[in-house]
Amino acid sequence: MPNDNVEKRVERVLVSAEAIRQRVGELVELIKADLGESDPVVVALLKGSIVFLADLIRGFDRPLAFDFVGVSSYGDGTSPGEEIAFTKELSVDIAGRHVLVVDDILDTGRTLRRVLGYLEMFGPASVRTCVLLDKRARRDVAIEPDYTGFEIGDEFVVGYGMDFADRYRNLPYIGVLARER
Ligand code: IMP
Ligand code: MG
Repeated sequence: MPNDNVEKRVERVLVSAEAIRQRVGELVELIKADLGESDPVVVALLKGSIVFLADLIRGFDRPLAFDFVGVSSYGDGTSPGEEIAFTKELSVDIAGRHVLVVDDILDTGRTLRRVLGYLEMFGPASVRTCVLLDKRARRDVAIEPDYTGFEIGDEFVVGYGMDFADRYRNLPYIGVLARER
């Protein structure tokens, strides 16, 4: 194993744990104001959104259900014809329910577009989207999240659920990974 001390490979902290905590609290208030008394289903995209989901749902004092959808993209992640496959399908019935889709990062927008198309097939009453990070500059699908934690530049980030090669998800902050030298 190479020397893989996590702290050494994170170049800098982009969003601190405290800043995340504060912003998640604000998002909860915005979402609550919109969802009112409804009993929503929160649908989180595996795996990157789970830490965000865990913090977000604990801000709610009303009944809600949550479920996961697993998606994986094949190809290099940059080609427009790329296929997105479901590795876990929905298991909660969302027909007639208000749905909040939660994801970690909105990048090109292809994943979220595919998931929204999939969810529509089940006849939800409404679908709203909440992303922790928005890399606006990289978007190639016309999609606008209803709730955004932070807009960031075109940098590869890890931590707070987000990974590089399935690692760094456990970091309590969002960091920029040092490029390989
Ligand atoms: P999109 O389909 O291009 O919008 O891809 C969004 C997905 O790519 C996110 O849900 C993440 O899983 C992944 N992703 C995009 N940028 C990053 C990053 O900087 N770090 C970790 N994962 C990323
Ligand atoms: Mg993801």
